[in-house]
Amino acid sequence: MGIEVIVEGLTKSFGKQTVWQDVTLTLPPGEVSVMLGPSGTGKTVFLKSVIGLLKPERGRVLVNGVDMVNGPERDIYQTRKLFGLMFQDGALFGSMNLFDNIAFPLREHTRKKESEIRRVVMERMDMVGLVGSEAKLPGEISGGMRKRAGLARALVLDPQIILCDEPDSGLDPVRTSYISQLLIDLNAQIDATMLIVTHNLDIAATVPDNMGMLFRRELVAFGPRELLLTSDVPVVRQFLSGRREGPIGMAEEKDEATLAMEQLADDSTVPIAPPTVVPQLEPSPGLPPRQAVQRRRARVLAMWDQLPAAARTAVQAGLAPVQGEPA
Ligand SMILES: Nc1ncnc2c1ncn2[C@@H]1O[C@H](COP(=O)(O)OP(=O)(O)O)[C@@H](O)[C@H]1O
Ligand SMILES: [Mg+2]
Repeated sequence: MGIEVIVEGLTKSFGKQTVWQDVTLTLPPGEVSVMLGPSGTGKTVFLKSVIGLLKPERGRVLVNGVDMVNGPERDIYQTRKLFGLMFQDGALFGSMNLFDNIAFPLREHTRKKESEIRRVVMERMDMVGLVGSEAKLPGEISGGMRKRAGLARALVLDPQIILCDEPDSGLDPVRTSYISQLLIDLNAQIDATMLIVTHNLDIAATVPDNMGMLFRRELVAFGPRELLLTSDVPVVRQFLSGRREGPIGMAEEKDEATLAMEQLADDSTVPIAPPTVVPQLEPSPGLPPRQAVQRRRARVLAMWDQLPAAARTAVQAGLAPVQGEPA
């Protein structure tokens, strides 16, 4: 099963610029979480901080009892091997074919024989639908294939935590749906804890068990998908409905003056469609059910008292009877 990731009071600055402050959340083991946020809100910085590549000034990130911020470098290095990181741009070596790119972590970090490497690489290439493209160079394939190759490479060391940086960027809507399904299928097959950062609304609506949002240097919210999808927090509503009206502006975040003008103009008269919560994606036929589903169900029911009415209604609508249990 995937490993829990506990983030406590995390604050990261570059010089005088605070990227975000006091971020606290827990990625539940084996569940899929999505972190939303406009461009430049520090999503990539967050992923790099979780894995210990960037060092926030305050707070901690606990993985298996190791603090990825202030723990001993040796422990951080060991713990990092539990992670698979899929970079935004794929980060493939341009002069290496896909097979060698995907085999790279195995050759670098293990002493596996070449026959064993071939077995693992082909298995992962099969999982992401790339069999037959082993000899292709990154420059010869589509953006979608490069993403999948980056994902396959993130999987070869059997990670228990998978971090994906904008798996949809540069992809058309159809390719994005394929990636969404692939991420859910992956979760069903390996039960890893997953964190996806994105600003894609389709991924947000269909993939995660949990969702969070970074905005104006804060974590606006983090919780079960239904909580965010039915949220009446203006910035969350605006983001998830893709509207112009609201706190988020053209230059990433509207300045205070524009915002004040808009509030004078009475933003509340702009009609907003009631939030609809579409069902979460299921694993493809033939795959096992996601083990996270039952764990999450127990977890969400345990926090029932803290959920607003709209979120409860959405949770109830999604609580189909679990296989093998009485309805
Ligand atoms: N290594 C760095 N040095 C200085 N500033 C950085 C560095 N990395 C990121 N930043 C700044 O941190 C902010 C958040 O960046 P990023 O995490 O890439 O945003 P996002 O991924 O949400 O688009 C940006 O203002 C960016 O310029
Ligand atoms: Mg980024």
